[in-house]
Amino acid sequence: MTSKLLERLGVVSPVVQAGMGGLPAGELAAVVSEAGGLGTIGWLPVASLRDELMKARSLTSRPISINLTVPQATQRHWQVANDADLVVTHWESVPQRRVDKPWLHTVGSVDEAQAAIAAGADGIVVQGVEAGGHVRGKVPALELLGLVRAAIPPDSEIFLAGGIADADDVRRALAAGATATALGTRFLASDECPISTEYQRRVVEGSETILTELFGLGWPHAPHRVLPNAATRRWLHDNSLGPSSIRRLHAVVTPLVMRLPARFSIHTLHSGSSSPLALTAQTPSDTFPARALEKSPLYAGETVARIHDVRPAAELVRDLTP
Ligand SMILES: Cc1cc2nc3c(=O)[nH]c(=O)nc-3n(C[C@H](O)[C@H](O)[C@H](O)COP(=O)(O)O)c2cc1C
Repeated sequence: MTSKLLERLGVVSPVVQAGMGGLPAGELAAVVSEAGGLGTIGWLPVASLRDELMKARSLTSRPISINLTVPQATQRHWQVANDADLVVTHWESVPQRRVDKPWLHTVGSVDEAQAAIAAGADGIVVQGVEAGGHVRGKVPALELLGLVRAAIPPDSEIFLAGGIADADDVRRALAAGATATALGTRFLASDECPISTEYQRRVVEGSETILTELFGLGWPHAPHRVLPNAATRRWLHDNSLGPSSIRRLHAVVTPLVMRLPARFSIHTLHSGSSSPLALTAQTPSDTFPARALEKSPLYAGETVARIHDVRPAAELVRDLTP
């Protein structure tokens, strides 16, 4: 299927670079959009989100999307998002429209898909369990796509997220009823992605990922898929979700953490916290100190097993487009 929504925006490729919260991704998003795909800037503190959107706008006149995780988004985030061309939301069971722009909601089940359509979403992102980052789906993406496609109006927009790393994956998704595809992990391994070369080395050399709740400070009870590091090796012996004591502590402390300015936890990481576990659920960008990689969530999806190179994002868009 093809995407009427992307067509209306002037996007010619069904390749969407998925939102990756915490990464100042203005340049990456612009390069993807300039190459014919759709680039996305994920959650950031409000001022940074605005700066990255402006940076992307200065690099391309093509559309740019903003992705916001609802638990972390404030009124001011929604105001910035309204300046994007498309807004994607994540992590809300009963979604609601907060922007005037075309809006897609990320879902992990048929019920959530129907709730998003009922709430007036212009489409949905179906996210399979193999995806990197915070994971809504409990079954593989293509399986969930089949179930959702049969349960919502036939002309609905569906972007498929999770498990997509090459043009054959994109072809399969479109043949199975997706109107476009959203890729996070493949774009982590791109020249323009603002993560450290060490994080990229682990993506490219990695073969396994873990679905856990270990890095839940600030965002408890939200399963996320990560690469192994010292923190996962230390705590994920008996239960891949993480010790129940740590998860309980995260649930108790999170309401307090949420009241702190967003930069506080990042600042704590930078200024040498001796905590063996990150004080933030944020993706470590290339501004984090090297030691943060051993205690932070190295979000990545199962496709790490099939991704073996770091390449220019524009080249990726060209090669992924069927
Ligand atoms: C580093 C990283 C950060 C992510 N952050 C977000 C986020 O802030 N919001 C969101 O909706 N999804 C987030 N995701 C999930 C992606 O948007 C997308 O659903 C996922 O990457 C697709 O699966 P893939 O990793 O197999 O390509 C993140 C994924 C990664 C790898």
